[in-house]
Amino acid sequence: MENTKPGLSETENAFQPAREISDFESFAGRKHPVDMAYLGLLTEGSSLAVVGNRGIGKSSLARQIQAIGEGNNDLVDRLELGYGHKFDFLVVYLACGNNVSAVEDLLIRLMSSHACLAPWIYEVEKSHRYVSSLAPQVSAKIFGLGAEVASKTSTEAYSEVASVPQDVFSVFDNVVKIIADEKIASDGILFVVDEFDQIDNPSGFASMLKALATNAPNVRFCIVGVAKDIQDLMREHESSDRLFAGSIISLEPMSADELLEIVNIAEAKLGGWYTFSQDARDKMIGLAAGHPYLVHLVGKFALRKAYRENARVIEGGDIDDVVRTIAESNGDPVLEGRYRKAVASSRQREIVLKSLARSQDDKGEVWTTNAYKVALDEGVDNASQYVGQLVTKEFGQEIEKIRERYYRFKDSLFATYVAARPSMRSGDD
Ligand SMILES: Nc1ncnc2c1ncn2[C@@H]1O[C@H](COP(=O)(O)OP(=O)(O)OP(=O)(O)O)[C@@H](O)[C@H]1O
Ligand SMILES: [Mg+2]
Repeated sequence: MENTKPGLSETENAFQPAREISDFESFAGRKHPVDMAYLGLLTEGSSLAVVGNRGIGKSSLARQIQAIGEGNNDLVDRLELGYGHKFDFLVVYLACGNNVSAVEDLLIRLMSSHACLAPWIYEVEKSHRYVSSLAPQVSAKIFGLGAEVASKTSTEAYSEVASVPQDVFSVFDNVVKIIADEKIASDGILFVVDEFDQIDNPSGFASMLKALATNAPNVRFCIVGVAKDIQDLMREHESSDRLFAGSIISLEPMSADELLEIVNIAEAKLGGWYTFSQDARDKMIGLAAGHPYLVHLVGKFALRKAYRENARVIEGGDIDDVVRTIAESNGDPVLEGRYRKAVASSRQREIVLKSLARSQDDKGEVWTTNAYKVALDEGVDNASQYVGQLVTKEFGQEIEKIRERYYRFKDSLFATYVAARPSMRSGDD
């Protein structure tokens, strides 16, 4: 145990609800998904996909895949997977965000962004010449107005590519093949595309992958996004299973042990100065319901409280206080905003919303008979009327009907927040 109190900044950063885990030391659990990712990278010509709910840990896993692809086996060794092989990919990581609307936009970003391929296009003489050979309107589209990449050799013809293509797909195809063949990294290029679900129209992506798998097996993709399976992520009906040859990693909620590891890691980062009591741990794990994000969020606020109060042990009661503070101080403005929208100013509707969240079965389905009973115990006898409102846009459409008398929350993270959050007020409608 350390005998000096850690500083505020160290304390504030022991948990990190605001960003994904990039370093392997802070990455908890997930042995099986890491194993699948490793084997997926090993499978020549296969693409990888990481799917799962919002906030379940997709980007964190994607960052580990990036590191493993670059030859860093620290996590693989710590998890004792027993693999000695080190990969050597040139890894390009891109999070789509909200301005990538079609696959063309994605490919353009992958080529033109400085964090992606742009520096290599400059670096590799052959790709530079190829890009320079494109018609100015094509290169401008791809490389922006300045078309800087093309500026050096101007219009010199590029003989190694028979016909100069005009569409983004073929340009991408050529550029990546040239760079991959340059053997900058012996395993080729690995594109990790996070937030793939943000692409409004992903059509054309599957056929591009198919073509790449044949023509350039050393150019690989790992796509990551909120989805329940690969069809949902790619939004294509035809089966894409073969392209992903067993490398679809579906992230489930984390187990209690995995979530506890997050708490242990944070304690260790602070040299053991702070301790979460058993009761506090049980409460955190219970309310998080498998969502690592909520452990980080509650943990962060709990440490802040302990720091201020000069306490060293976090008790169960502290966790209750902290959950209240998070709600009242807008600790997560997005979740809180959605909560307020659903509840609006109705105490009755709040009771029904919470009854639904608390009546979810292990598949996240809510049987109204159960939920209405819970609501009735709290004094609401016309729960179905409020359920009717909660499915509408006005109240955020957080729940949906799946079949007669069964509903579900669209987002399990929100459902978990609803169940954990203290009620807003004791007044009535
Ligand atoms: N294996 C892990 N170990 C420790 N913390 C994790 C792990 N996975 C995720 N987290 C934490 O959980 C939170 C959500 O993780 P992440 O951003 O990776 O999820 P996501 O599925 O990409 O979320 P989104 O759907 O919002 O993109 C972050 O605070 C992150 O630090
Ligand atoms: Mg993410």
